[in-house]
Amino acid sequence: MCGIVGYVGTKQAYPILMKGLYRLEYRGYDSAGIAILNGKLIMYKTKGKVSDLESYIDDQDTAGTIGIAHTRWATHGEPNDVNAHPHYSQSRNLAMIHNGIIENYASLKEELKNRGYKFESDTDTEVLIQLIEDIKINEKVGLEEAVRIALNQVVGAYAIVVISKDEPDMLVAARKGSPLVVGIGKDDFFLASDAAPIVEYTKDVVYINDEEIVAVKRGEPIRIKTIGNKLQTPYIQKLEMNLTQLEKGGYEHFMLKEIFEQPNSILDSLRGRLNAKEGTVKLGGIVDYEQKMANAKRIIIVACGTSWHAGLVGEYLFEDLARMPVEVEYASEFRYRNPIISEEDVVIAISQSGETADTLAAIELAKSKGATIIGICNVVGSSIARATDAGSYTHAGPEIGVASTKAFTAQVTILTLMALRLAQMRNTIPQKRFRELLTELESIPQKVKETLKIDGQVKELAKMFVYARNFLYLGRGYNFPVAMEGALKLKEISYIHAEGYPAAEMKHGPIALIDSEMPVVVIATNRGTYDKVISNIQEVKARKGRIVAVVTKGDKAVKELADFILEVPETEELLVPILATIPLQLLSYHIAVMRGCNVDQPRNLAKSVTVE
Ligand code: G6P
Repeated sequence: MCGIVGYVGTKQAYPILMKGLYRLEYRGYDSAGIAILNGKLIMYKTKGKVSDLESYIDDQDTAGTIGIAHTRWATHGEPNDVNAHPHYSQSRNLAMIHNGIIENYASLKEELKNRGYKFESDTDTEVLIQLIEDIKINEKVGLEEAVRIALNQVVGAYAIVVISKDEPDMLVAARKGSPLVVGIGKDDFFLASDAAPIVEYTKDVVYINDEEIVAVKRGEPIRIKTIGNKLQTPYIQKLEMNLTQLEKGGYEHFMLKEIFEQPNSILDSLRGRLNAKEGTVKLGGIVDYEQKMANAKRIIIVACGTSWHAGLVGEYLFEDLARMPVEVEYASEFRYRNPIISEEDVVIAISQSGETADTLAAIELAKSKGATIIGICNVVGSSIARATDAGSYTHAGPEIGVASTKAFTAQVTILTLMALRLAQMRNTIPQKRFRELLTELESIPQKVKETLKIDGQVKELAKMFVYARNFLYLGRGYNFPVAMEGALKLKEISYIHAEGYPAAEMKHGPIALIDSEMPVVVIATNRGTYDKVISNIQEVKARKGRIVAVVTKGDKAVKELADFILEVPETEELLVPILATIPLQLLSYHIAVMRGCNVDQPRNLAKSVTVE
C-alpha cells in the first residue's frame, strides 16, 4: 500500500524517482507526487496514476540530485491532488512521504492546531511532518533527531522519508510495520518500499527493521539507529533480483506474463528441493524445524486473499498425506479472536508480499502464545519472512500484476513439498506411493506448459462472457479452493460478481440464482467425486445454466453435458489444483481485457496490503 522512493547522490533524481514510481505502482495508484530539492524545495503532485503525474510535470523544472516520490493507495482522505504525497511542513522547509497509518493522528493534530499549525490536507501524514517541524524548531535539533523524537510520540505503522531544505545532502527515513529498503550505490543512496526501483542501480541493499531510523548523506556511510537512539550496524545484503523480471518482456500485461511464467516459476519452487530419482524432498529453510512440524499437535495456516486459497489446498494436502489436523484461518479474523494456540501448534503463514499487515499481526499473536511459526513467502527479506522462525521462499520471482497468479501455484507447490516431507517423516505414506507422487510432481512444470496451450481457446470462450454480470464457480475436494480462487480472480480484475462454492453446497442457496444468464464454471477433474460433480452439473443444466467445465484430457461424461470444455492434462488428484487454476486465470484475464479493464492495476486494490 503506497510506494515510496527516495534518492540522494550525484545523478539527476527525477528520472530515477519517476522510474521507481512506475516500478512500485502495483502498491497503489490513486495519486502520485514528487519533491526535489535544488535550493528550492519543489513539489508536484496529482490525482491519478504515475503517468498522469509525468504528463502533469511535463517540462517543468525537475533539476536536482536529491528527492522523494510517492504513489498512493488512499487511507486518510480521498484521493485528490491535495491529499497526494509528499506533504510540506508549515514553513515548506520540510517534505515527507509516508506509507502506513498514524493511528493517533487526531490527538497530535489537535495539539498542533492549538500551537498555531494550519493543515491543508486530510492526511495523517501532514500531521507527522508538522510534528517533526515543531520538534526541530522547539528542541533546536537536526532533522534526524527531530524525526526520532517525533516517532516516539507516534502510534501506528509507517515507512517515511523526509527531506529538509536546511540539510540539503541528506534524507532521513524510518520504518515500523511498512517495508523500507536502502540501496547503496557508489556515491549515492536509494530508498524504496521494495528493491524493484533499486535493482537497476545497485545490488547492495540494507533492509531496515521496525523502529529503526536511517540517515543517508552524500559522501558519508549509511547510519542506522533505533528510535530509542541506539546505533545499529548496517547489514548489507546482495539482491538476487534482476531487471528482466521487472519488465513485461513483450507481453501486453504483467498478469499475462506471470501466467505464462508458471512452468518456470514452479520449476524454481521445486529446484534443489525435490529429487524424484533419489526419492527425497528437502526444504533447506525448515530442516531445523521439520521435526517440530512433524510432531505438532495441529497446523494452523494463516493468510489473506489468494494466499488463503493456497492455504486451503494445503489443508487437504497435510490431512491427506501427513494425516495432520489443519485449520486454515483468515489472518484478519484469527488476530481478533481469542484463538486457542499452544506451544505444540505450528503456524504456517503464507504471503506473496510478506508484508500483509493482518498476516503479520496473526504471526505476532501466535508467537506470543509460544507456537512455532513457519513462513511461505515470495518476497525475500520481507517482514513476514523475517518475523517467522523458519520458512521456505516460493522463488516465483517478482509478481507485479495485482491479481496473484504465479505466486499461488508456487505456494501450492511449496505446500505440496512440505506435506510430502512430513508424510515421509511421520510414516503416513507407503514408500512406493511417495515416490510415485514425487515423480508426478516433477512433471508438473511440463504439464503446466501443456495446459497453457489452451490460451487461444480460452480467449475465444471469453468473448461469450464479456457481458456476464454474475459467475458461479464450483468444485469439490481439492478443487473447491480452486473454484474460490477462480471466482476471486474474475471479480478482482473484471468487476463481474463471482462466487466460488463447494459444488454440493450449490443446492443450499446459489441454485436460486441459476438461469440461462448464469455461467457456471465447474472444475470436474476429480476422480474421487467425479460422479457427484456430474450430478451437480445436471442440476445446473436442468435450470438452463451455461456450463464451462474444466476436465481431464480425454474426459467423456462431462463433455456430453457441458456447453464448453477446457481440458487439462491428467495428473494425480492432489496436484490438480496447480493445473486447473491455469484456465481460470486465463479466463478472467481475457474477460477483463475484453471489458476494457486495467488488469494489472484493478480499481481499489493494491498488491501489498500493509494496513488492516
Ligand atoms: C491483496 C492482493 C491479493 C493477495 C492478498 C494477500 O489483496 O491484491 O492478490 O492475495 O493481498 O497478499 P499476500 O502478499 O499476503 O499474499
